[in-house]
Parts: sequence; C-alpha cells; structure tokens
Amino acid sequence: MKEKLEQIKAEALKQIEAAGGTGAQALELLNEIRVSYLGKKGELTALLKGLKNVASEERPMVGQMVNEVRGEIEEVLAGATEKIKAAALEERMKAEAIDVTLPAKKGYMGHRHANTIALEEVERIFIGMGYEVVEGPEIETDYYNFEALNIPADHPAKDEQDTFFINGDFLLRTQTSGTQVHEMEKGKLPIRMIAPGRVFRSDEVDATHSPSFHQVEGLVIDRHITFADLKGTLAEFARELFGEETRVKFRPHHFNFTEPSAEMDVSCFKCGGKGCRFCKGSGWIEILGCGMVHPNVLTMSGINPEEYTGFAFGVGLERIALLKYEIDDMRLLYENDIRFLRQF
Ligand code: DAH
Repeated sequence: MKEKLEQIKAEALKQIEAAGGTGAQALELLNEIRVSYLGKKGELTALLKGLKNVASEERPMVGQMVNEVRGEIEEVLAGATEKIKAAALEERMKAEAIDVTLPAKKGYMGHRHANTIALEEVERIFIGMGYEVVEGPEIETDYYNFEALNIPADHPAKDEQDTFFINGDFLLRTQTSGTQVHEMEKGKLPIRMIAPGRVFRSDEVDATHSPSFHQVEGLVIDRHITFADLKGTLAEFARELFGEETRVKFRPHHFNFTEPSAEMDVSCFKCGGKGCRFCKGSGWIEILGCGMVHPNVLTMSGINPEEYTGFAFGVGLERIALLKYEIDDMRLLYENDIRFLRQF
C-alpha cells in the first residue's frame, strides 16, 4: 500500500512539474491533473474507497498516509498554479509597458490665418477708440443690401456689383454696408461700430478678386459729427495699422450711401511715398472707401438728419492682409497650403 502511494505521488509531482507554461492552457492542464488524482474518480479517492479491505488496525495509519499524500499534491498544485499566474501577469506587464525613453510624437500647434490676424488688428484699433464690434447676416434682402443704402432698383450703381441672387428678394450680401442699416434700426444712439464679415460677388478668381472675401464696415452716428471726425479717425487708424509716419490722402469718389464720399490712400509704407514697385511708383496705396452718411440713408432708418450726422467707411480685409504681409496674390490666402500659412 505504501509503495503504491509513493508511486502515485511521484507520478503526480512529475506531471505537475511537466505542466509548465504561462497561459490558460497550462492552468487547464493542472486542473486535469487535480481531477485525475484528487477528483471523485481520481486515483487517491479510489485508494481511500479501497480502505475497507485493509485490516482494521492498519486502517487509521493508511488513511493518514493517503491524506498526507493528498495534502502534498494539493500544495504542489497550488504552488504551480501561482507560478503560472505570476508568469502570465509578468508577460502582460511587459507587453503593455510604455517606453518613456522613446521620442515623443510632434504635436503641431495650429495658428491664426493671416486674415484673422489682420482682422484682430483692425478690431484692436477700433475697440481702443471705443467702437463696438457687431455682425450682420450674410444672406440679406434686397432692401438691406441696396434699397436702404440709397441704391434704388433701377440705379446703375446696383449693376456694378455682380450679385448672387437666391431669388428675387434674397441675396448673398455684396457688401457689409447693410449692417449699418440693421444697427440704425435698433434705434439706439449714438452709434460707434465696426462690422466685420464675409461678402460675396459673382467675380472671376484672379490675383485680386474672389467670389467671397471679407470687409470691415464702420459707422459712427452722433450729434455734430463732421468730416473732420472722419479724417481724424481714419488717419489714426492708418497710423496704427501701418506705422506712425503714415500719411493719408482723401480722393473724391462716389458711393450712394454717403455724401460727400471719398477713397482714402495711405503713403506707401515700403518707400515712404517716394514711389516703388510696391505702390506702382505712385507713392500711395488705396485702402478704403468712406464718406458722410447720406441724409436719405439716415431718414430711411428712422434717424433725423437735422439732428444727427455720421460717417461710414468700408475696408477690404484681404487687402489689408495682403499689404501688411506683402503677399502679391489673394488666392494664396484661400489655398490652405500650410507651408504658406505658417509664415505669419
Ligand atoms: N460698401 C463699399 C464697397 O463694397 C465700401 C464702402 C464705401 C463702405 C464707403 C462704406 C462707405 O461704409 O462709406 O465698395
């Protein structure tokens, strides 16, 4: 009997030792070994069942021996199971390990578009002079884009702007000037506002034209506003934008919504006015349209022109960005070529 027990034990331990490995398969194998020795139909259990054939005075001793062997096999099994689980854990940790010495992925920070930088510069200047920044709708009615700006249906000035009409009455705004009307209709005076935004014209794309571009509209309405206020304000704007030594020049012009109207030129910031390639030899660069708000425009928006006067102006935002950064083709601003955009 004792011999038989020793034999079973040796056999079991050998099998357990052979069942190395790290995975679920090894654990399964250990379980099979457990069942085949210690299970209900296992070899040790069978030995215990055969105890009734052993002489009664020997029975306690043999029983103890069987239990001892059982305990030993159980202990070795538990140890082997632990080892397999530990090895599996270690393997997983190794697989999931993060190598902190690897060079990091380069994160590229986006940055503002040249147009946006130019806009923020314009906003900074006018906010500094006490202006409010407002926005108007990109889809307008004929009334706000033309009629209320003193451009009646049959006026040739309307033909000058190649408009995207949605239907007879709705259109994509061709200018930000309609924002003036929205602002005046609110009935709150005085007004000191700029209105940046996108505008649309059915223009062919070339170095200086795009069917969609941006303007910044300006409007001031109060008592006793004169052309002197317009000149002082826009001259200050030009100096802040292009440098302290910048001079301005106003040329008479025509806009339906202002009377008198003018275009403002700035002295070329490249050559200081002597004339160079940049200003095409003239020493001056055209920068914006402006004028005193036409009495008809005030009246249509419910403001009494006998009591209030005002001035207005409109700047092309792309034009400022192109000038400031000396870009000679407007299309570059829209092509989204990162090599180009990164320069600003
Ligand atoms: N809306 C004009 C344009 O698109 C620009 C402009 C000129 C706006 C004179 C004004 C202004 O407010 O007074 O060409």
